[in-house]
Amino acid sequence: MTNRADPFDLSGRVAVVTGAGSGIGRGTAQQLAAAGAHVVCADVNAAAAEATADGIGKAASAAALDVTDRAAVFALIGNTAEEHGRLDILVNVAGIIRTGRVVDVEVADLDAVLDVNFKGTFHGCQAAARIMCAAGGGSIVNTASGAVDTGQPEIMSYSVSKAAVVQLTRNLAAEVGRFGVRVNAVAPGLVRTAMTERHYLLPDGGVDEAARAAAEKPLRRMSPLGMIGEPEDIAHAVRYLVSDAARFVTGQIIRPNGGVAMPW
Ligand SMILES: NC(=O)c1ccc[n+]([C@@H]2O[C@H](COP(=O)([O-])OP(=O)(O)OC[C@H]3O[C@@H](n4cnc5c(N)ncnc54)[C@H](O)[C@@H]3O)[C@@H](O)[C@H]2O)c1
Repeated sequence: MTNRADPFDLSGRVAVVTGAGSGIGRGTAQQLAAAGAHVVCADVNAAAAEATADGIGKAASAAALDVTDRAAVFALIGNTAEEHGRLDILVNVAGIIRTGRVVDVEVADLDAVLDVNFKGTFHGCQAAARIMCAAGGGSIVNTASGAVDTGQPEIMSYSVSKAAVVQLTRNLAAEVGRFGVRVNAVAPGLVRTAMTERHYLLPDGGVDEAARAAAEKPLRRMSPLGMIGEPEDIAHAVRYLVSDAARFVTGQIIRPNGGVAMPW
């Protein structure tokens, strides 16, 4: 179904996006739908997934999904393929962060982060790749982070989980390319979402703009563009990666990050 007139067009494609209830996942679901895909918006926060799907309209449906529940991931991805007769796209966006120095990290926190960020992505990759390989095509995009390029303090669990996502992406890409399945990852720089705004949220849920400006200042300085990202900046990269425009692209880690070189 290659659209040579518009290789970015996703009309007729069926996509599952995890973590679609907020931030980058929501922005990605919106972009894929805008490009013509039907998008299953999956999130552990069922109400948030519904809100994303409602905002998109007919081109979307919502699903409650905890990506750490392997059986549930397989069920959702399998049911989606069965219901629509195809599965073209999986975008693994669901993620969490826990902070703490390496010497202080609780094993329970390390496990929680690995379970969602790495194993959740692994379950999705495995479920989707089996279907896509059998069908002879498909595209998977995983979500890594700029954290994989640094030794930034106090986020070891998160960084390790994302480094594992990078390696999973490369290994899977090497195995499934001959079936016409592409696997890539985005490694975003700092993006304004609930995950990052938690540092400057006021007790009433509003954002402390002065605290935000102070927190963003050193990060802006690291970007030649002087920018902090918005979810759509990552969503556009994902839209490219899942489209036919990227048919020659697999096993890649794309870094929408304002040009930050991460000097840690
Ligand atoms: N915001 C950034 O600066 C940034 C930078 C690099 C990478 N990332 C990555 O991008 C992804 C999205 O982050 P975001 O900033 O949009 O965060 P966010 O907190 O706004 O959204 C994360 C979403 O994932 C969902 N989620 C969490 N655990 C889940 C689970 N077990 N099963 C299903 N859904 C679950 C949450 O409910 C939420 O809707 C994450 O993987 C994050 O690590 C974010």
